[in-house]
Amino acid sequence: HIQGVIFDLDGVLTDTSEYHYQAWQKLADEEGIPFNRQANEALRGISRRASLMLIIGNRKYSELQIQEMMERKNNYYVELIENITHNNLLPGAVSLLDNLRVAGLKIAIGSASKNAHLVIEKLGIIDKLDVIADGYSVQKPKPAPDLFLFAAQQLGIAPQQCVVFEDAAAGIEAALGAGMWVVGMGQPERLGNAHIILPSLVDLTWEKLQAKFRDFAL
Ligand code: G6P
Ligand code: MG
Repeated sequence: HIQGVIFDLDGVLTDTSEYHYQAWQKLADEEGIPFNRQANEALRGISRRASLMLIIGNRKYSELQIQEMMERKNNYYVELIENITHNNLLPGAVSLLDNLRVAGLKIAIGSASKNAHLVIEKLGIIDKLDVIADGYSVQKPKPAPDLFLFAAQQLGIAPQQCVVFEDAAAGIEAALGAGMWVVGMGQPERLGNAHIILPSLVDLTWEKLQAKFRDFAL
């Protein structure tokens, strides 16, 4: 049965995915590259470099220019998150974290972001977490399973006993690849093969989550 819960950060516990989008939009505009909110859907959950590659498509840039653009986007992002607080936590997030802790589950963050520590600090939830796996933890980014496997290993829990909360197609693929249970958050179109899909974390408890997984005979 499930002993550990791994949360993606951007778009699951907090609304920072909007700031990632705004930072990419600003960069794309400066470069004269067509980009919009819909195109941004494909960038959810994937690394900074992979995101930039999708934005530039087959336009030719040198490695130096690529480095500069990644840095520029990150500067915009860091500027945008400068004033985030616990108010940027998504509805239901804190009560679920507290409820899971009381129920005796181990809790990790599994985020592709190199800014995850900064964001977690600003959100004020560091005390509610046992492990933070972020953009520095492994080499291969989502959709590879490595980041979630690393988080489970740090928790000391077998992958099959972990459930992952994800809002991105790449993250769901990564969690399934790791052999974990997956809750997809948000619009079903982008959530592929998640075992369970939820619109939000509001009113969710460990008890309700277990009931939803009962169909899978856990
Ligand atoms: C998360 C976000 C992505 C972002 C990635 C890398 O997965 O959902 O939008 O590109 O982290 O974030 P970073 O802060 O390292 O650029
Ligand atoms: Mg996400």
